[in-house]
Amino acid sequence: MTLSPSNALSILGIETSCDDTAAAVLHGKQILANVVSSQDEVHGPYGGVVPELASRHHIRNIVPIIDQALSTAGTSLEQLDGIAVTCGPGLVGSLLVGVSLAKALATAKGLPLIGVNHLEGHLLAVLLEQEVAFPFLCLLVSGGHTCLYRARDWGDYQLLGGTRDDAAGEAFDKAAKMLGLGYPGGRVIDKLAQNGDPAALRFPRAHLKTDTYSFSFSGLKTALRHFLQAQGRTTYRDEDIAASYQEAVIDMLVEPTLRAARDLGLERVVVSGGVSANSRLRKRMTAAGEQCGLRVFVPSLKLCTDNAVMIAFAGAWRLARGQRAALQLNASATLRL
Ligand code: KG4
Ligand code: ZN
Repeated sequence: MTLSPSNALSILGIETSCDDTAAAVLHGKQILANVVSSQDEVHGPYGGVVPELASRHHIRNIVPIIDQALSTAGTSLEQLDGIAVTCGPGLVGSLLVGVSLAKALATAKGLPLIGVNHLEGHLLAVLLEQEVAFPFLCLLVSGGHTCLYRARDWGDYQLLGGTRDDAAGEAFDKAAKMLGLGYPGGRVIDKLAQNGDPAALRFPRAHLKTDTYSFSFSGLKTALRHFLQAQGRTTYRDEDIAASYQEAVIDMLVEPTLRAARDLGLERVVVSGGVSANSRLRKRMTAAGEQCGLRVFVPSLKLCTDNAVMIAFAGAWRLARGQRAALQLNASATLRL
Protein backbone atom coordinates (compact mmCIF):
# COMPACT_ATOMS: atom_id res chain seq x y z
CA MET A 1 0.00 0.00 0.00
CA THR A 2 1.23 3.52 -0.72
CA LEU A 3 -0.22 6.65 0.75
CA SER A 4 0.00 8.95 -2.26
CA PRO A 5 -1.27 12.54 -2.29
CA SER A 6 -4.41 11.37 -4.16
CA ASN A 7 -5.46 9.04 -1.36
CA ALA A 8 -3.83 11.01 1.46
CA LEU A 9 -5.87 10.62 4.61
CA SER A 10 -5.81 13.09 7.49
CA ILE A 11 -5.59 11.11 10.70
CA LEU A 12 -5.37 12.14 14.33
CA GLY A 13 -3.25 9.63 16.26
CA ILE A 14 -3.55 9.23 20.03
CA GLU A 15 -1.05 7.25 22.13
CA THR A 16 -1.29 6.73 25.91
CA SER A 17 -0.08 3.15 26.38
CA CYS A 18 2.51 3.87 29.06
CA ASP A 19 3.79 7.15 30.49
CA ASP A 20 3.94 9.44 27.43
CA THR A 21 0.83 11.35 26.40
CA ALA A 22 1.07 11.80 22.64
CA ALA A 23 -1.05 13.15 19.80
CA ALA A 24 -0.14 13.60 16.13
CA VAL A 25 -1.73 14.64 12.88
CA LEU A 26 -0.66 12.85 9.72
CA HIS A 27 -1.72 13.81 6.21
CA GLY A 28 -0.68 11.02 3.85
CA LYS A 29 2.98 10.60 4.79
CA GLN A 30 3.34 14.20 5.89
CA ILE A 31 3.70 14.74 9.64
CA LEU A 32 1.69 17.91 10.38
CA ALA A 33 2.06 17.66 14.15
CA ASN A 34 3.87 15.38 16.58
CA VAL A 35 3.34 16.28 20.23
CA VAL A 36 4.71 14.13 23.04
CA SER A 37 4.29 15.09 26.68
CA SER A 38 6.71 13.10 28.79
CA GLN A 39 6.00 12.15 32.41
CA ASP A 40 9.67 11.43 33.19
CA GLU A 41 9.70 13.97 36.03
CA VAL A 42 6.65 12.32 37.62
CA HIS A 43 8.08 8.79 37.60
CA GLY A 44 11.78 9.65 37.95
CA PRO A 45 11.80 9.65 41.77
CA TYR A 46 10.35 6.10 41.76
CA GLY A 47 12.87 4.73 39.23
CA GLY A 48 10.06 3.37 37.04
CA VAL A 49 6.52 4.03 35.85
CA VAL A 50 3.85 4.13 38.59
CA PRO A 51 0.67 3.05 36.74
CA GLU A 52 -1.81 5.01 38.88
CA LEU A 53 0.19 8.24 38.49
CA ALA A 54 0.56 7.63 34.74
CA SER A 55 -3.19 7.37 34.14
CA ARG A 56 -3.92 10.41 36.31
CA HIS A 57 -1.42 12.50 34.32
CA HIS A 58 -2.83 11.25 31.02
CA ILE A 59 -6.28 12.46 32.12
CA ARG A 60 -4.81 15.87 32.92
CA ASN A 61 -2.74 16.14 29.71
CA ILE A 62 -4.68 14.48 26.93
CA VAL A 63 -7.09 17.27 25.92
CA PRO A 64 -4.44 20.05 25.83
CA ILE A 65 -2.07 17.74 23.91
CA ILE A 66 -4.72 16.98 21.27
CA ASP A 67 -5.60 20.69 21.03
CA GLN A 68 -1.91 21.47 20.56
CA ALA A 69 -1.53 18.83 17.83
CA LEU A 70 -4.58 20.13 15.93
CA SER A 71 -3.51 23.75 16.18
CA THR A 72 0.11 22.95 15.14
CA ALA A 73 -1.30 21.06 12.15
CA GLY A 74 -3.62 23.97 11.37
CA THR A 75 -6.57 21.64 11.20
CA SER A 76 -9.75 20.84 13.11
CA LEU A 77 -11.53 17.63 14.05
CA GLU A 78 -14.09 18.31 11.28
CA GLN A 79 -11.36 18.15 8.62
CA LEU A 80 -10.07 14.72 9.68
CA ASP A 81 -10.74 11.40 7.95
CA GLY A 82 -10.40 9.36 11.14
CA ILE A 83 -9.05 8.96 14.65
CA ALA A 84 -6.51 6.21 15.41
CA VAL A 85 -5.84 5.25 18.99
CA THR A 86 -3.56 2.74 20.71
CA CYS A 87 -5.79 0.08 22.27
CA GLY A 88 -3.01 -2.21 23.61
CA PRO A 89 -0.72 -3.61 24.80
CA GLY A 90 0.26 -1.41 27.75
CA LEU A 91 -0.94 -0.24 31.14
CA VAL A 92 -4.69 -0.67 31.13
CA GLY A 93 -5.42 2.51 33.10
CA SER A 94 -3.26 4.54 30.70
CA LEU A 95 -4.71 2.92 27.57
CA LEU A 96 -8.26 3.58 28.76
CA VAL A 97 -7.68 7.33 28.83
CA GLY A 98 -6.74 7.43 25.14
CA VAL A 99 -9.36 4.90 24.05
CA SER A 100 -12.20 6.63 25.94
CA LEU A 101 -11.33 10.06 24.57
CA ALA A 102 -10.92 8.76 21.00
CA LYS A 103 -14.33 7.08 21.22
CA ALA A 104 -15.92 10.27 22.53
CA LEU A 105 -14.37 12.45 19.80
CA ALA A 106 -15.20 9.96 17.02
CA THR A 107 -18.83 9.76 18.19
CA ALA A 108 -19.22 13.51 18.61
CA LYS A 109 -17.81 14.26 15.15
CA GLY A 110 -19.09 11.17 13.31
CA LEU A 111 -15.55 10.11 12.42
CA PRO A 112 -14.22 6.59 11.84
CA LEU A 113 -12.37 5.15 14.84
CA ILE A 114 -9.40 2.84 14.34
CA GLY A 115 -7.89 0.76 17.18
CA VAL A 116 -4.14 0.29 16.70
CA ASN A 117 -1.80 -2.23 18.27
CA HIS A 118 1.12 -0.28 19.78
CA LEU A 119 3.57 -2.92 18.51
CA GLU A 120 2.32 -2.56 14.94
CA GLY A 121 2.88 1.19 15.28
CA HIS A 122 6.54 0.58 16.22
CA LEU A 123 7.00 -2.08 13.53
CA LEU A 124 5.66 0.11 10.71
CA ALA A 125 7.11 3.48 11.83
CA VAL A 126 10.20 3.28 9.62
CA LEU A 127 8.02 2.79 6.51
CA LEU A 128 6.82 6.34 6.93
CA GLU A 129 10.35 7.58 6.26
CA GLN A 130 12.06 4.94 4.13
CA GLU A 131 11.12 2.47 1.42
CA VAL A 132 11.39 -0.98 3.00
CA ALA A 133 10.03 -3.83 0.91
CA PHE A 134 8.32 -6.80 2.56
CA PRO A 135 9.28 -9.34 3.74
CA PHE A 136 11.62 -8.11 6.46
CA LEU A 137 12.78 -9.12 9.91
CA CYS A 138 11.87 -6.73 12.73
CA LEU A 139 13.68 -6.52 16.05
CA LEU A 140 11.23 -4.67 18.27
CA VAL A 141 13.06 -3.42 21.36
CA SER A 142 11.34 -1.22 23.91
CA GLY A 143 10.75 -0.85 27.62
CA GLY A 144 8.11 -3.58 27.60
CA HIS A 145 9.07 -5.77 24.64
CA THR A 146 12.03 -7.47 23.03
CA CYS A 147 10.75 -9.57 20.14
CA LEU A 148 11.66 -10.71 16.67
CA TYR A 149 8.95 -10.69 14.00
CA ARG A 150 8.93 -11.83 10.41
CA ALA A 151 6.86 -9.13 8.65
CA ARG A 152 5.54 -10.83 5.52
CA ASP A 153 3.27 -7.98 4.44
CA TRP A 154 1.18 -5.14 5.88
CA GLY A 155 -0.76 -6.68 8.77
CA ASP A 156 0.91 -10.11 8.40
CA TYR A 157 3.45 -10.59 11.17
CA GLN A 158 4.87 -13.82 12.60
CA LEU A 159 6.34 -13.77 16.11
CA LEU A 160 9.64 -15.65 15.96
CA GLY A 161 10.77 -15.25 19.56
CA GLY A 162 11.13 -12.87 22.44
CA THR A 163 12.65 -12.26 25.81
CA ARG A 164 12.30 -14.89 28.51
CA ASP A 165 12.50 -12.30 31.27
CA ASP A 166 13.23 -8.55 31.07
CA ALA A 167 12.90 -6.43 27.95
CA ALA A 168 16.10 -4.73 26.73
CA GLY A 169 14.75 -1.29 27.70
CA GLU A 170 14.03 -2.62 31.18
CA ALA A 171 17.60 -3.92 31.38
CA PHE A 172 18.81 -0.38 30.66
CA ASP A 173 16.34 1.25 33.06
CA LYS A 174 17.16 -1.13 35.93
CA ALA A 175 20.91 -0.71 35.41
CA ALA A 176 20.51 3.06 35.45
CA LYS A 177 18.55 2.78 38.69
CA MET A 178 21.32 0.66 40.29
CA LEU A 179 23.88 3.23 39.14
CA GLY A 180 21.74 6.10 40.45
CA LEU A 181 21.42 7.66 37.00
CA GLY A 182 17.68 8.38 37.02
CA TYR A 183 14.73 7.28 34.90
CA PRO A 184 14.34 6.43 32.05
CA GLY A 185 17.82 4.98 31.95
CA GLY A 186 18.44 3.99 28.36
CA ARG A 187 19.16 7.48 27.08
CA VAL A 188 21.42 8.30 30.07
CA ILE A 189 23.44 5.09 29.71
CA ASP A 190 23.74 5.71 25.96
CA LYS A 191 25.14 9.21 26.60
CA LEU A 192 27.49 8.14 29.38
CA ALA A 193 28.74 5.18 27.34
CA GLN A 194 29.86 7.49 24.54
CA ASN A 195 32.81 8.45 26.75
CA GLY A 196 33.44 4.96 28.06
CA ASP A 197 35.36 1.85 27.04
CA PRO A 198 33.01 -1.02 26.09
CA ALA A 199 35.83 -3.52 26.77
CA ALA A 200 36.69 -2.18 30.25
CA LEU A 201 34.60 -4.89 31.92
CA ARG A 202 33.33 -8.21 30.65
CA PHE A 203 29.70 -8.78 31.65
CA PRO A 204 28.16 -12.20 30.89
CA ARG A 205 26.14 -12.67 27.69
CA ALA A 206 23.23 -15.12 27.58
CA HIS A 207 23.23 -16.63 24.11
CA LEU A 208 20.25 -18.95 23.95
CA LYS A 209 20.91 -21.11 20.95
CA THR A 210 17.43 -22.36 20.28
CA ASP A 211 15.40 -22.17 17.12
CA THR A 212 12.99 -19.80 18.85
CA TYR A 213 15.39 -16.82 18.90
CA SER A 214 14.98 -16.06 22.60
CA PHE A 215 16.62 -13.30 24.60
CA SER A 216 17.43 -13.06 28.32
CA PHE A 217 18.67 -10.05 30.24
CA SER A 218 18.04 -10.97 33.89
CA GLY A 219 21.47 -12.65 34.32
CA LEU A 220 23.21 -9.53 33.06
CA LYS A 221 21.25 -7.37 35.47
CA THR A 222 22.19 -9.66 38.39
CA ALA A 223 25.84 -9.59 37.28
CA LEU A 224 25.80 -5.79 37.46
CA ARG A 225 24.24 -5.89 40.93
CA HIS A 226 26.90 -8.34 42.18
CA PHE A 227 29.65 -6.27 40.57
CA LEU A 228 28.43 -3.10 42.27
CA GLN A 229 28.12 -4.87 45.64
CA ALA A 230 31.60 -6.36 45.37
CA GLN A 231 33.55 -3.54 43.75
CA GLY A 232 31.51 -0.49 44.62
CA ARG A 233 32.10 2.18 42.03
CA THR A 234 35.59 3.12 43.02
CA THR A 235 37.59 0.86 40.72
CA TYR A 236 35.88 1.76 37.44
CA ARG A 237 34.53 4.95 35.91
CA ASP A 238 30.74 5.15 35.47
CA GLU A 239 31.36 5.74 31.76
CA ASP A 240 33.23 2.42 31.48
CA ILE A 241 30.59 0.50 33.47
CA ALA A 242 27.83 1.97 31.29
CA ALA A 243 29.70 1.24 28.03
CA SER A 244 30.54 -2.33 29.06
CA TYR A 245 26.99 -3.07 30.21
CA GLN A 246 25.51 -1.52 27.07
CA GLU A 247 27.86 -3.60 24.92
CA ALA A 248 26.61 -6.81 26.55
CA VAL A 249 22.95 -5.82 25.89
CA ILE A 250 23.78 -5.04 22.27
CA ASP A 251 25.71 -8.29 21.71
CA MET A 252 22.67 -10.17 22.97
CA LEU A 253 20.40 -8.28 20.55
CA VAL A 254 22.60 -8.42 17.45
CA GLU A 255 23.48 -12.13 17.47
CA PRO A 256 19.94 -13.68 17.41
CA THR A 257 18.76 -11.03 14.95
CA LEU A 258 21.47 -11.81 12.40
CA ARG A 259 20.98 -15.55 12.98
CA ALA A 260 17.22 -15.26 12.35
CA ALA A 261 17.74 -13.20 9.19
CA ARG A 262 20.23 -15.77 7.90
CA ASP A 263 18.10 -18.80 8.83
CA LEU A 264 14.97 -17.35 7.23
CA GLY A 265 16.69 -15.86 4.19
CA LEU A 266 15.51 -12.32 4.97
CA GLU A 267 17.62 -9.56 3.41
CA ARG A 268 16.17 -6.58 5.27
CA VAL A 269 16.20 -5.95 9.02
CA VAL A 270 14.17 -3.25 10.75
CA VAL A 271 15.04 -2.21 14.30
CA SER A 272 12.27 -0.34 16.13
CA GLY A 273 11.01 0.67 19.58
CA GLY A 274 12.54 2.96 22.19
CA VAL A 275 15.85 1.07 22.43
CA SER A 276 16.39 1.51 18.68
CA ALA A 277 17.25 5.13 19.62
CA ASN A 278 20.47 3.77 21.15
CA SER A 279 23.37 5.22 19.19
CA ARG A 280 25.66 2.22 19.67
CA LEU A 281 22.93 -0.30 18.72
CA ARG A 282 22.17 1.66 15.54
CA LYS A 283 25.86 1.64 14.56
CA ARG A 284 26.58 -1.96 15.54
CA MET A 285 23.47 -3.42 13.88
CA THR A 286 24.10 -1.48 10.66
CA ALA A 287 27.77 -2.50 10.53
CA ALA A 288 27.01 -6.16 11.37
CA GLY A 289 24.28 -6.20 8.72
CA GLU A 290 26.61 -4.77 6.08
CA GLN A 291 29.17 -7.47 6.84
CA CYS A 292 26.71 -10.21 6.01
CA GLY A 293 24.90 -8.52 3.14
CA LEU A 294 21.82 -7.36 5.05
CA ARG A 295 20.23 -3.92 4.82
CA VAL A 296 19.36 -2.48 8.22
CA PHE A 297 16.64 0.17 8.61
CA VAL A 298 16.12 2.24 11.76
CA PRO A 299 13.57 5.06 12.19
CA SER A 300 14.68 8.61 12.95
CA LEU A 301 14.95 9.26 16.69
CA LYS A 302 11.53 10.95 16.98
CA LEU A 303 9.85 7.77 15.71
CA CYS A 304 11.83 5.33 17.89
CA THR A 305 10.41 6.14 21.31
CA ASP A 306 6.65 6.27 21.92
CA ASN A 307 4.82 8.73 19.68
CA ALA A 308 1.40 9.11 18.08
CA VAL A 309 2.70 9.52 14.51
CA MET A 310 3.30 5.78 14.26
CA ILE A 311 -0.22 5.15 15.57
CA ALA A 312 -1.73 7.53 13.00
CA PHE A 313 0.34 5.84 10.25
CA ALA A 314 -0.77 2.29 11.14
CA GLY A 315 -4.32 3.60 11.57
CA ALA A 316 -4.28 5.28 8.13
CA TRP A 317 -3.29 2.01 6.51
CA ARG A 318 -6.05 0.11 8.31
CA LEU A 319 -8.64 2.80 7.49
CA ALA A 320 -7.59 2.77 3.80
CA ARG A 321 -8.39 -0.96 3.82
CA GLY A 322 -11.85 -0.21 5.18
CA GLN A 323 -11.15 -1.30 8.73
CA ARG A 324 -12.66 0.59 11.62
CA ALA A 325 -13.36 -0.18 15.24
CA ALA A 326 -16.79 -0.51 16.78
CA LEU A 327 -17.70 1.75 19.66
CA GLN A 328 -17.23 -1.27 21.91
CA LEU A 329 -13.46 -0.92 21.34
CA ASN A 330 -11.76 -1.68 24.63
CA ALA A 331 -8.24 -1.37 25.99
CA SER A 332 -6.29 -4.61 26.27
CA ALA A 333 -3.16 -4.70 28.41
CA THR A 334 -1.98 -7.94 26.77
CA LEU A 335 -3.03 -7.39 23.14
CA ARG A 336 -0.87 -9.53 20.84
CA LEU A 337 0.41 -8.65 17.42
O1 KG4 B 1 9.10 2.35 22.90
P1 KG4 B 1 9.27 3.08 24.19
O2 KG4 B 1 9.30 4.58 24.17
O3 KG4 B 1 8.16 2.67 25.22
C1 KG4 B 1 7.70 1.34 25.31
O4 KG4 B 1 6.89 0.94 24.44
O5 KG4 B 1 8.21 0.64 26.23
O6 KG4 B 1 10.62 2.54 24.86
C2 KG4 B 1 11.06 3.03 26.09
C3 KG4 B 1 12.37 2.35 26.44
C4 KG4 B 1 12.87 2.69 27.83
O7 KG4 B 1 13.21 1.49 28.49
C5 KG4 B 1 14.09 3.55 27.57
O8 KG4 B 1 15.09 3.45 28.56
C6 KG4 B 1 14.58 3.00 26.24
O9 KG4 B 1 13.39 2.75 25.51
N1 KG4 B 1 15.42 3.96 25.51
C7 KG4 B 1 16.71 3.73 25.23
C8 KG4 B 1 17.20 4.89 24.58
N2 KG4 B 1 16.17 5.79 24.49
C9 KG4 B 1 15.08 5.19 25.07
N3 KG4 B 1 17.49 2.67 25.47
C10 KG4 B 1 18.79 2.73 25.08
N4 KG4 B 1 19.32 3.81 24.48
C11 KG4 B 1 18.57 4.91 24.20
N5 KG4 B 1 19.10 5.96 23.59
ZN1 ZN C 1 6.56 1.69 22.68
